[in-house]
Amino acid sequence: MLSRSDFPEGFTFGAATSSYQIEGHKFGGAGPTHWDSFAATPGNVILAENGDLACDHYHRYGEDLDLVANGGFDAYRFSTSWARVLPEGRGTPNDKGLDYYDRLVDAMLERGLKPFATLYHWELPQPLADLGGWRNRDIAGWFADFTEIIMGRIGDRLHSAAPINEPWCVAWLSHFMGYHAPGLRDIRAASRAMHHVLLAHGHAIEAMRGLGMSNLGAVCNMEYAMPADDSEAAKAAAMRYDGIYNRFFLSGLFGKEYPADVLEGIEPHLPAGWQDDFDTIAAPLDWCGINYYTRKLIAPDDGPWPALKEVDGPLPKTQMGWEIYPEGLAQFIERTHRDYTKGLPLYITENGMARADVLENGAIDDPERTAFLADHLDVVQKAIADGAPVRGYFVWSLLDNYEWTLGYEKRFGLVHVDFESLQRTPKNSYHTLKIALTR
Ligand code: FCB
Repeated sequence: MLSRSDFPEGFTFGAATSSYQIEGHKFGGAGPTHWDSFAATPGNVILAENGDLACDHYHRYGEDLDLVANGGFDAYRFSTSWARVLPEGRGTPNDKGLDYYDRLVDAMLERGLKPFATLYHWELPQPLADLGGWRNRDIAGWFADFTEIIMGRIGDRLHSAAPINEPWCVAWLSHFMGYHAPGLRDIRAASRAMHHVLLAHGHAIEAMRGLGMSNLGAVCNMEYAMPADDSEAAKAAAMRYDGIYNRFFLSGLFGKEYPADVLEGIEPHLPAGWQDDFDTIAAPLDWCGINYYTRKLIAPDDGPWPALKEVDGPLPKTQMGWEIYPEGLAQFIERTHRDYTKGLPLYITENGMARADVLENGAIDDPERTAFLADHLDVVQKAIADGAPVRGYFVWSLLDNYEWTLGYEKRFGLVHVDFESLQRTPKNSYHTLKIALTR
């Protein structure tokens, strides 16, 4: 594995988590979220597990931040729970929630860690979901109000902030594929959510600029789409997948437009006047984050637009069944820089793998994770050598945690969590990475 000294001076190494996946949502007066309702509905989540207890990070954050600092990291990427700060989504803030994030940020600073905040990592307050959630244009204003409240409290001490984690997941995965809360499978709902998630992003940026905050970015997930065979139809299907997944959000944020091949399917469903929102959506940013895990092989399918399907691929896979394909990250760094961000700093804000880790004799040997991280760090280092402005890399995740629809079974952590005792045990990948980061 490469060492810190192989990267430019000042390059940021971090670990990432999100609020609902680790905190323990039942503590501290947080309000109900659409993930709680989704998980309580049979068939949505493995074992109907939810984030009630998760890793109990709400009480154990000191120990967890020690693990970040002792692992040789410079930064910690975390998210703020809207429903913890505003249990009704709007209206009266929950003082305990605000105090909690205040303590959390101070605890990072005390350990010399740079706080990288994400405002929204998927747990929409249920009362707002009841009003249509991401389908309702008003969400942009509700989100801006939440932004002002939480950032009014912690914004002065953050190193950096981004409004929304992975707009594709918020919109498409959750409203078209039905795989995440609120579990809709509806082209109209999805199309509107695609637009409103970017509009809400823009309003939050405006709110944070208004508070005098700087170093603001956007975090997009990207999945490398390849045609399943040599046919023209498969190529076209992979292009459509790439448009919906990757190009739509970058085009909106950095190009003030939506790609024609995505509009082909969603335009009839977009809210009137969508074309007038780009000045807000594309408010200038200071950096762009890429979350990268895998590639997908795509084939054409029967039925209406986008008429495509995923095909099982031949490469080695992680516990998620995701193929390991570091070259995709190289492609995305290059394309994002060349076609969209054009010189803006880039961060790899998430990268990592799930593995069926088992604690044996007090240790977890996870050589595949170490190799995964080493291979992706190689790609990042080469991209920098070729001139790409990548400024940091965050591992997903610090801890084993609540992997959404897949419950607690999929283990992404550098640190193992026993979900009975809540004991933390750093895995061998943590120890190896620590050596690399301190050299
Ligand atoms: C990303 C999410 C994160 C986690 C990883 C595996 O899409 O941001 O919460 O689920 O995938």
